[in-house]
Amino acid sequence: MSNKYNAVTDQIVERLVEIVGEKYVLYGDAEKLEPFSHDEVAESQYAHMPDCVVRPESTEQIAAIMSLANDERIPVTPRGAGSGLSGGAVPVHGGIVLLCDRMNRILEIDRENLTVTVQPGLVTNEINDALSQYGLFYAGYPMSLETCYVGGNVAENAGGGKAVKYGVTGRYVLGLELVTPTGEIVRLGGKLVKDVTGYNLLQLMVGSEGTLGVFTEITLKLMPLPKSSVDLLVLFRTAKEAISAVPTIMTAGGIIPTAIEFMDQSSVRASCEYLNESIPYQDAGAMLLITVDGAHEQQVEREYESIGELCLENGAIEVYVADNYTTSERIWKVRRNIAEAFKVVSPHQSLEDVVVPIAAIPDMVDGLGEISGRHEVQIPCYGHAGDGNLHATPVMNPAWTLDEWHEKLPRIMEDMYKLTHSLGGMISGEHGIGHKRKKYMNFVVPEASLEMMRAVKRALDPNNILNPGKIVDVNDAS
Ligand code: LAC
Ligand code: ZN
Repeated sequence: MSNKYNAVTDQIVERLVEIVGEKYVLYGDAEKLEPFSHDEVAESQYAHMPDCVVRPESTEQIAAIMSLANDERIPVTPRGAGSGLSGGAVPVHGGIVLLCDRMNRILEIDRENLTVTVQPGLVTNEINDALSQYGLFYAGYPMSLETCYVGGNVAENAGGGKAVKYGVTGRYVLGLELVTPTGEIVRLGGKLVKDVTGYNLLQLMVGSEGTLGVFTEITLKLMPLPKSSVDLLVLFRTAKEAISAVPTIMTAGGIIPTAIEFMDQSSVRASCEYLNESIPYQDAGAMLLITVDGAHEQQVEREYESIGELCLENGAIEVYVADNYTTSERIWKVRRNIAEAFKVVSPHQSLEDVVVPIAAIPDMVDGLGEISGRHEVQIPCYGHAGDGNLHATPVMNPAWTLDEWHEKLPRIMEDMYKLTHSLGGMISGEHGIGHKRKKYMNFVVPEASLEMMRAVKRALDPNNILNPGKIVDVNDAS
């Protein structure tokens, strides 16, 4: 399939150098290109080397690169910080990796319209660093916020830790400037809270995993910074008890918390060891990390007390209140580092982000326990329980050879995805499909919907040069 593309020749490199300057084209040095052959997916089978990496600094340079690549039939894979977890930034057909790291500025903070406009290579956390002095905030909170880029968050429609109350990235994307696969510069949306002027192309771009356009400017909606925020660390004897409390917390208390994160014992232990940190009672079977925030301290206090009581009535053995920044940050740091910690524990694992309706998460955890037993594989679990989105992570049984693991893993994945689907769920809530999950798309997405996706891709990228090999294959008949 890849032979329909042309190679990056010395002549092409020369033309790229003309566009971005010699310093910003990486070519011919395997050691320097290697970091761009993978993202944060642990398994090396998903890696693929690019032919070259280019680092543009403007929309016009990106348009020139896309135009050249489209004329010459060379694949282009946009890349942010490379913190993705489904291979979205991996150049599976080689060609050009288009790195957005030089486009890392905040272009405008518009306090009258409550928007911020940024370039795609800005580290997500830096938005709120810049906004807090104005009493404003951006609600996106991916767990990799200290390293990931806003462009990647939009491309993956990142979820993260505050989606229970605030929703995912797409809810905040009001405007985009982007370069199409054929090299045109297009603006979608703007600063409007409401806009039904034609098809919602803006939200089609959100979550398109770098396959439909290269984002060059992003306008995000802002909100008033909550003045009060409190975290509860709620301990349970077992994972089942912890997860069973979640649907009740969501529905019985009349309060939507900001976050309800779930961590089983092995997740907390791995992260605490990795960080050399200790949080209270890491020996509990599982815990929930629940955040409540708002404009008024007394109201937040009433709400967290009510949620704490609900937890105690529903099996919690202890509720700890973290009402200062230092304690909260210590606990959240443990939560944010679980994925990294597991990579140290075992490089042979599959970090998943299955999602089910919130009422079905207890059944999901039961089903995962059953799959774990049947396949004799550990499946540690953590994640955004309040969204029904769990990072179930099958880890290679140390008794197996690598070949056995590669033979068994697809069957484990199939069982996990079938379980998810049977509960009304989907195979990815926030990390996307990339090429890692592409072959499982037809487990959960009907053929008619897959064909609509292919039609969109064919219409916008007629030569299939922008991030080919991701989400769905355009030429698939099945
Ligand atoms: C997390 C990443 C893996 O929630 O999505 O930690
Ligand atoms: Zn997550």
